[in-house]
Amino acid sequence: AQIDKAGHKHFMSKEIFEQPTVLAECLTHYSAGERVALPEGALDFAETDRLILVACGTAHYACSVAKYWFEQLAGLPCDVDIASEFRYREPPVSDRATALFVSQSGETADTLAALRYAQGKAARIVSVVNVPESSIARESDLALPILAGIEVGVASTKAFMNQLGVLANLAILAARQRGRIDAAREAELLETLRGLPGLINQALALEERIHKRTGKLAEARSVLFFGRGAMFPLALEGALKLKEISYIHAEGYASGELKHGPIALVDKTVPVIVMAPRDALFDKTVSNMQEVLAREGRVWLITDAEGAEIAGDGVWQTLVMPRIDPIFAPMLYAVPAQLIAYHTALHKGTDVDQPRNLAKSVTVE
Ligand code: G6P
Repeated sequence: AQIDKAGHKHFMSKEIFEQPTVLAECLTHYSAGERVALPEGALDFAETDRLILVACGTAHYACSVAKYWFEQLAGLPCDVDIASEFRYREPPVSDRATALFVSQSGETADTLAALRYAQGKAARIVSVVNVPESSIARESDLALPILAGIEVGVASTKAFMNQLGVLANLAILAARQRGRIDAAREAELLETLRGLPGLINQALALEERIHKRTGKLAEARSVLFFGRGAMFPLALEGALKLKEISYIHAEGYASGELKHGPIALVDKTVPVIVMAPRDALFDKTVSNMQEVLAREGRVWLITDAEGAEIAGDGVWQTLVMPRIDPIFAPMLYAVPAQLIAYHTALHKGTDVDQPRNLAKSVTVE
């Protein structure tokens, strides 16, 4: 079918705004009422001793977020690898391990090669893909579709969101199968997920504000993104999005690592984007942020109303997000990360849907 931009200036914008709809469809597909629903016997996380998650690019950051979920919710040890490292490192793979490959296209050469490496070693090969007839899907024991619809923009947005949607459901399933959560907690987690499309809509309504505030960002030579816990990989994804389409150098860092290097970069020319929902580690993030402020860093704090109230003083600007259970905050905060990259690119006038030197699907090494 012919796909168009549906009134948007770029596919990337269209795809960002499709997220509430495609995520809702994905969540409906993977849950039945109060329980995660997968075909009977499709996956048994009680039998597995380790989950190995392998991917490239944005899909790799989805895996990195999911590691926090699988470990915290399900107590399942989790390794996350970049496919091009995994395939050549010759890592030992236990025959009780579950190997899970995440790929929008299902054709990324390194991810496919990593999958073939794990075949015959891991107990089960699972893939999370957007293209169900892809090579990665075909060569897996179990292929789980993310149901995001065709993604055209080279910088992945809605596929990332729905990869997280599927992985969140798998982590909840794993938590139940491993006896870590009861039925009430499962229902509550699914309820939180079901609330996300509505919250994402609220975050999308911040677009105008983000457009105005990214004017300054477009002048920066370098931008830092900070996050803690599951927000750390989202900081990496935010930096990736920005560099992909605006060509501004950007780096994501775990907030706690600030003093081990990146603080040396901070001065008043370097915007520092702190993605910090009010969670158990919020106070620690705030104290990291104070160190940046003390060095005249320009902090853009992205948090909820409570967080802004506590820590908003003295920062360059705040973006106030809807409140969400911190466990799934990376899904909600992905939206401002995407919009920041998109609007910075608009200010710079770069080719958003076809950034230089990048390809949508990398089928060669
Ligand atoms: C390319 C794309 C990225 C994508 C990565 C992995 O670099 O530009 O957007 O995240 O490949 O692609 P995959 O199809 O395996 O998710």
